[in-house]
Amino acid sequence: MPKKIIADKVTKIFPTPRGQLTAVEDFSLEVEDGEFVCIVGPSGCGKSTFLRIVAGLIPATSGNIRIVLDPDSEEGKPLNNIVFQEYAIFPWKTVKDNVAFGLEMRNVPKEERYEISLDWIRRVGLTGFEDCYPHELSGGMKQRVSIARAFANDPEVLLMDEPLAALDAQTRAIMQEELVRIWESDQKTVIYITHSIEESLLLGDRIVLMTARPGRKKDSFQVPFDRPRNLSLTSTPEFAKLSYTIWESLQVEVQRTLLVGSQSPDECV
Ligand SMILES: Nc1ncnc2c1ncn2[C@@H]1O[C@H](COP(=O)(O)OP(=O)(O)OP(=O)(O)O)[C@@H](O)[C@H]1O
Ligand SMILES: [Mg+2]
Repeated sequence: MPKKIIADKVTKIFPTPRGQLTAVEDFSLEVEDGEFVCIVGPSGCGKSTFLRIVAGLIPATSGNIRIVLDPDSEEGKPLNNIVFQEYAIFPWKTVKDNVAFGLEMRNVPKEERYEISLDWIRRVGLTGFEDCYPHELSGGMKQRVSIARAFANDPEVLLMDEPLAALDAQTRAIMQEELVRIWESDQKTVIYITHSIEESLLLGDRIVLMTARPGRKKDSFQVPFDRPRNLSLTSTPEFAKLSYTIWESLQVEVQRTLLVGSQSPDECV
């Protein structure tokens, strides 16, 4: 498979009032076209920073990011779309208009954008709520709107930063299964950040572990489970075994994060 995202030795140093803080260091990642890569790492290790650099929201201090364009991509197609942890949807727009927002920005004609929007609303199970406003929806429903919006916009790559973290455990389980289903029917190239090893094993083709800050690449695990997947996978012995192997590698980093001083700028550590 051709490469779709190439991140080469990305480093990010933030100047802070208490000195420089290296959030990400020499982090390289190559994602294939249509691959779903999960990044897992301890809190504060630089995952969101890396994703924001890939999205072009902030510059890297050094290193490069390249997103390889689809050769038959239509003009104006967005390079990436990011789904944040908090549901970043417009409170003054209906579900239908929120999902169609990216298409509207690209001047897709009204009829066509509503057709796409309604199709995605159906795929995330929100049919009947097209004309509702966000305040009329539950947290899980709002998150489905932001996921539908990201897919509807058909970006070259999808970047997701803990999109399910704000949900309760049951809603989250249902949404994980929905995400698996959506992704399996529309294989986008995805970088997905999560704290949950189980979630990454259920969703991902590959899991990349980051070290405690400054975030470097620690390990990479290929996820061997067949697709289509559903939640029943999580109760198999193979799942439990791989989950524990990954946890063994991650826990050292989590412990390092909890050490006094690990959250301070570089000079203070
Ligand atoms: N704009 C900023 N200015 C200064 N420091 C920042 C800035 N953004 C992030 N940081 C620091 O960079 C480090 C990495 O932050 P980041 O948000 O990328 O971590 P994370 O891995 O996403 O953590 P979490 O899992 O808790 O979301 C942290 O120490 C944070 O304090
Ligand atoms: Mg984060």
